[in-house]
Amino acid sequence: MKKFDQYIQIYGLVIIAFSYISVLNSNKHDSNLVKISETGACIKHILPKYYATANQGKSEKDLDYKQLRINFGNYSDYEFQQYIGKGASGHAYLGLQKSTKNKVVIKTFKSLRWSSIKREIVFMQIVQGHDLISPLVDVIKNNNIVSLVYNRYIVFPTSQLIKTMTDNGNKLFLYQTLKALDYVHSKGVIHGDIKPGNIIANPNKKLFKLIDWGLSMYYVPGRPKNPSVGTKSYQSPEILLRYQYYDYQIDVYAVGFMFSQMIFKENNPFKGTKKLGKEKIQYIHRIARVFGTEGLKEVAKKMNSNFDFNDFPDYQPVNLNKFINSSNQQYCQSEALDLLQKMMHYDAKKRITPKDALKHQYFDSIRHQFE
Ligand SMILES: Nc1ncnc2c1ncn2[C@@H]1O[C@H](COP(=O)(O)OP(=O)(O)OP(=O)(O)O)[C@@H](O)[C@H]1O
Ligand SMILES: [Mg+2]
Repeated sequence: MKKFDQYIQIYGLVIIAFSYISVLNSNKHDSNLVKISETGACIKHILPKYYATANQGKSEKDLDYKQLRINFGNYSDYEFQQYIGKGASGHAYLGLQKSTKNKVVIKTFKSLRWSSIKREIVFMQIVQGHDLISPLVDVIKNNNIVSLVYNRYIVFPTSQLIKTMTDNGNKLFLYQTLKALDYVHSKGVIHGDIKPGNIIANPNKKLFKLIDWGLSMYYVPGRPKNPSVGTKSYQSPEILLRYQYYDYQIDVYAVGFMFSQMIFKENNPFKGTKKLGKEKIQYIHRIARVFGTEGLKEVAKKMNSNFDFNDFPDYQPVNLNKFINSSNQQYCQSEALDLLQKMMHYDAKKRITPKDALKHQYFDSIRHQFE
């Protein structure tokens, strides 16, 4: 009987050991999940569908853009020709590189904020070399003013252009933006500030280029990021809910918002209202009024968000067809609405990726031009 007990004990231990090993293995193979310890709690962070490991193997030092040593070019080789305008970081000018006669754009930084300057240079250098991205030519310094020099393209303000683009123009614009984004994401970089002002357009050639790497960041699984990034209307639900573990998909949401402006024109479903309280809250209301409160609550729960839903109205989802009228119907085909909803999905993990969006039926008529 004693021997039998010993057998049972050994058998039990073997079973426990096997179960433990299999649990370890199953965790190891479930590469889609990362556990993040956050104020003591353990939440599951689902990895993005593509490019989750783009920065694998890089140390904290490698990812610290402040480490960059800048090699300055020759300031006197540039002529500042015409003032373009003021941006968040400084001023932009049309210029000329005297030695090459190349037309350039010179972006000056209004103060010596080295971290912003280095951030833009580092991310620019990672992503340049693609047709749809405007390359950096030089970095120059005069007294206390640092400027980045870019190749100049003939541009038309995209924020104006998207109001008047044809259906074909919309498709070309969106396709190229998504293509550029897929490339940027493949490099492990989130653009962080997608909006019409950061896409320059040459309407004659129907060509677009992505610019402005001033808010870009690396995607590294489980690494918290600044939750206030981007320009308000274009901010995704996860940003508005102040989630720190967002990924590449914040860029897709921003493109989705631009897409809504392109197809609905004046009758945009996400138009603001002055009646609702604080600004941040107002933007989340704009989204919830269209896609409903229930879905927002579900995604907030997934993110462990402490957003206060107590006084939040119970908005019901609205059918996007309601916003179609005689002046926008030519842009709002069912394929357009289908893609738009996939790009603006509350849940970043269910939101379509740029790579998959490029295969969407909406682009069937223009895709051959890029293959
Ligand atoms: N390569 C380029 N060719 C032509 N124009 C350009 C180019 N790069 C930038 N510009 C123009 O300069 C403007 C400012 O550039 P950019 O967005 O990089 O600066 P910014 O200071 O971050 O501006 P903002 O705060 O408005 O986003 C752009 O909106 C665009 O009109
Ligand atoms: Mg900009």
